[in-house]
Amino acid sequence: MSRAETHEDLNAVIRQHSEMLAAQLHSQRESLFPPDASKAMRKFTSGEAAALLGVNDSYLRKLHLDGKGPSPEMSSGNRRQYSVEDIQNLRILLEKTARKPGDYLPGRREGDHLQIIGVMNFKGGSGKTTSSAHLAQRLALKGYRVLAIDLDPQASLTALHGVQPEFDLLDGGTLYDAIRYENPLPITQVIRRTYIPNLDLIPGNLELMEFEHETPRALARGNAGLFFFRVKEALAQVDDRYDVVVIDCPPQLGFLTMSALSAATGVLVTIHPEMLDVMSMSQFLRMTADLMDVIADSGADMSHDWMRYLLTRYEPTDAPQNRIVAFLRTMYGDKVLNAPMLKSTAISDAGLTKQTLYEVERSAFTRTTYDRAIESLNAVNDEISQLIQKTWGRP
Ligand SMILES: Nc1ncnc2c1ncn2[C@@H]1O[C@H](COP(=O)(O)OP(=O)(O)O)[C@@H](O)[C@H]1O
Ligand SMILES: [Mg+2]
Repeated sequence: MSRAETHEDLNAVIRQHSEMLAAQLHSQRESLFPPDASKAMRKFTSGEAAALLGVNDSYLRKLHLDGKGPSPEMSSGNRRQYSVEDIQNLRILLEKTARKPGDYLPGRREGDHLQIIGVMNFKGGSGKTTSSAHLAQRLALKGYRVLAIDLDPQASLTALHGVQPEFDLLDGGTLYDAIRYENPLPITQVIRRTYIPNLDLIPGNLELMEFEHETPRALARGNAGLFFFRVKEALAQVDDRYDVVVIDCPPQLGFLTMSALSAATGVLVTIHPEMLDVMSMSQFLRMTADLMDVIADSGADMSHDWMRYLLTRYEPTDAPQNRIVAFLRTMYGDKVLNAPMLKSTAISDAGLTKQTLYEVERSAFTRTTYDRAIESLNAVNDEISQLIQKTWGRP
């Protein structure tokens, strides 16, 4: 067999495998979700709604009995069940009589700048997508106006939000359309609403790779402009519509990540505390610093409001992990978020059915498993919320 023949064979096999897989995935999806099915958010118990709003359940009950605000659905056991829309409407109602402004609607006020959080690390599997999704959803559930952007061509964040990157985005619809060099579209054309009020999404798919290929060509032609500002400029078009943007970055330091880094006001580096991951992180940090120098040299302001490390998939009972965590905390001090994201089968199982844990009912897992995971996720996300508030000058 000549070399040319083997080469051709490999191509054919790969193509055939790709088609087989696409067909399988397609039929699987058809059987799981009817073609026009879209994801919906579950209902929240009155206890969950009260916790999200930061009030007592008895107070919510009183509002309900007084006929104030949305009327919750009654479950078979005669328990009040709140939709995410109900919770948002209650926020608006409660804010009107709040003791301090922002008690129920924590978003931007006059003079506060848009928070753009880049979640990055070039290590795949370090928990970027899981962290981004739970952060974006939690902030939206807490009343912030949030835009989540999937900048990873592998599009896991997109799939997690019920958009199928290989079927639903055949005519484009990713951020690429808004940052490309030829005829970019207004960013509003690629923003979609999700099943959570306050949470919008810009999905991703493989088309994002075009930005990696096109940027060097545009640079060579001399018309890339300041390519690293593409994301920032696109976001400026919708600056007043959101409080927080969460960007799930690809696992590489390409032009997409650099452009996200230039746009970011906050940077979250996810770390799975294992030796191999930490070793590769050292390279990641050095390369990031080098790239930021290059960008800064061309006159860009590379200052950020904050940068934090987030420990992900952490197992407190694992001695080697604990040594690494201790070492990172000693080395980087308060740059490591206090709250780690614990490893939990609840989180990975939810992911298998394309859901975050916030989308899953407590009854789906044993209580202790669910509660431990939710508490860990909330602690992480609420610590980030505090960083946001601090940036806006609030204690
Ligand atoms: N806290 C966690 N507990 C259990 N599994 C997790 C947790 N965080 C992430 N995972 C799982 O680890 C895998 C990689 O996580 P992911 O967020 O996709 O990483 P990345 O986006 O950095 O590649 C996924 O299968 C995800 O479900
Ligand atoms: Mg990912």
